[in-house]
Amino acid sequence: MSRRSRSTLDREPWWVSGVFYQVYIRSFADTNDDGIGDINGVIGHLDYLEWLGVTGIWLSPVTTSPDADWGYDVADYHAIHRDLGSMADLDLLIASANQRGARILLDLVPNHTSDQHQWFVDSRSSRTSPRRDWYVWADPKPDGSPPNNWVSSFGGPAWTLDPLTDQYYLHNHLAAQPDLNWWNEDVRQAFDEILCFWMDRGVSGFRIDVCNIIVKDAELRDNPPATVHDDWESRLFGQRPVYNANRPEVHDVIRRWRRLADARGDRCVLLGETPVDIGVLAEYYGDGTDELHLAFNFPFLSAPFDAETLRMIVEETGSRLPGNAQPAWTGSNHDMSRFSTRWADGDIRKSRAALLMLLCLRGTPVLYQGDEIGLCDVPVAHEDMRDPLGVAYWPAYAGRDAMRTPMPWKNEPGGGFTGPSVRPWLPLGGLESKTVEDQRKDPGSLLILARDLIGLRHITPDLRSGRYASLQAPHGIWSWRRGENTVVAVNFTDNAATLEGLEGEILIATDRARDGTSLSGSVAISPWEGLVARVGSLPE
Ligand code: NOJ
Repeated sequence: MSRRSRSTLDREPWWVSGVFYQVYIRSFADTNDDGIGDINGVIGHLDYLEWLGVTGIWLSPVTTSPDADWGYDVADYHAIHRDLGSMADLDLLIASANQRGARILLDLVPNHTSDQHQWFVDSRSSRTSPRRDWYVWADPKPDGSPPNNWVSSFGGPAWTLDPLTDQYYLHNHLAAQPDLNWWNEDVRQAFDEILCFWMDRGVSGFRIDVCNIIVKDAELRDNPPATVHDDWESRLFGQRPVYNANRPEVHDVIRRWRRLADARGDRCVLLGETPVDIGVLAEYYGDGTDELHLAFNFPFLSAPFDAETLRMIVEETGSRLPGNAQPAWTGSNHDMSRFSTRWADGDIRKSRAALLMLLCLRGTPVLYQGDEIGLCDVPVAHEDMRDPLGVAYWPAYAGRDAMRTPMPWKNEPGGGFTGPSVRPWLPLGGLESKTVEDQRKDPGSLLILARDLIGLRHITPDLRSGRYASLQAPHGIWSWRRGENTVVAVNFTDNAATLEGLEGEILIATDRARDGTSLSGSVAISPWEGLVARVGSLPE
């Protein structure tokens, strides 16, 4: 390694050079045959994650919850959900992951708690409870209707009347997920303590649930009506979320968390769930050093698989983010249709191209478990649905179960996820063609491509942190340079095309037969093919 690349590597924080992987723990691996994945299942697959090369592991919620929203309704921020294991298991996971060069991020849910949380039990007990003001309570309007017009992002009014004290409480999701009052200093201090509790246990960061909405308008003003120019969500809900999301004061809270994280050196990373447009997304990075380290890019995640659209989003993100702020790129998560379905429609060529794109952009890639094997959404029958949204809105909306089904480790009863005679909490899918075991044996598989691309990223400073520059390419081809000597090209069309002016060597192509072949001027690129190449001089 040259002196230059060595010094680049030394300067990169781990979350810049790293590749992240989301473990949706209930569906990862079950070690006690109850049909539910658990912490020991993650420990049991650390070999696999190390082999794959991921260095940041984000665990979906592991804390105590009645599971109205599968862990996103926390009843105790300091205790492990009994279905998932024990505190000793988590400690062991953190230590074992660290030994293998991987770090653990927890899911932090600060916007709301479960209605079973002792804080809310206290708060709702009387208007004079010391914790009354920990949540957002307001009187009915004179006609008995809710205090304002806000709607829950899960549909319906964002307010529920509590008959005990005859006031409404706010909930931006289910009624069983009351929103905390982030104007209350005691709430802020309680979360300071929660962050420190987990950082003291060795956690290396947090994915912060809906971190853009935690502070609400102090006056609880009505949201203005949506117009035809608004995004689909505002139009769906009939209002623009002006007063219950993205309030300026939320940045005070994020800066406060960043100070806590920074007090641990560069170990602890804040990765925000930020479902906002790119201009607003940039604000969550603060000045580039004082708010989120990483923020999920929802315009990218929800874009069509189209060269022009994705390129524009990536370039606008690059130009709007402050300083050297690091983008985060993901194609799937537990709320969104998986990219092998949504982007690739089951076409393996497109899944391969998508993975190559994700792993070669400037920014931190976040894979969702199953992305690496091209797992598609698995249809879940109405009677098997677990997601409260699917249960409430079926058949108009089938909810999020299809993207949360268990990992198919092996093609056998139980799928290697659970015991052969155990009924998994959600049905298994993808056993026929997609298992980890089968793909590990096949050098041409998507899994081996993912592993090799991650490995290439780790050893290539250009790919880890080299700047991004767009290159000229025929319509439908997206081609970009990373750093000094690395070029990436992806053909997003059904037609073969030719790239001009590339001299060098293909490092990895989605067609693995092309790995290591030299490039001399004109380079053919097949439909839905992607390649990453080391090049010499480049046309400007
Ligand atoms: C976003 C989470 O990803 C989702 O699963 C959850 O339902 C909501 N936030 C509410 O916590």
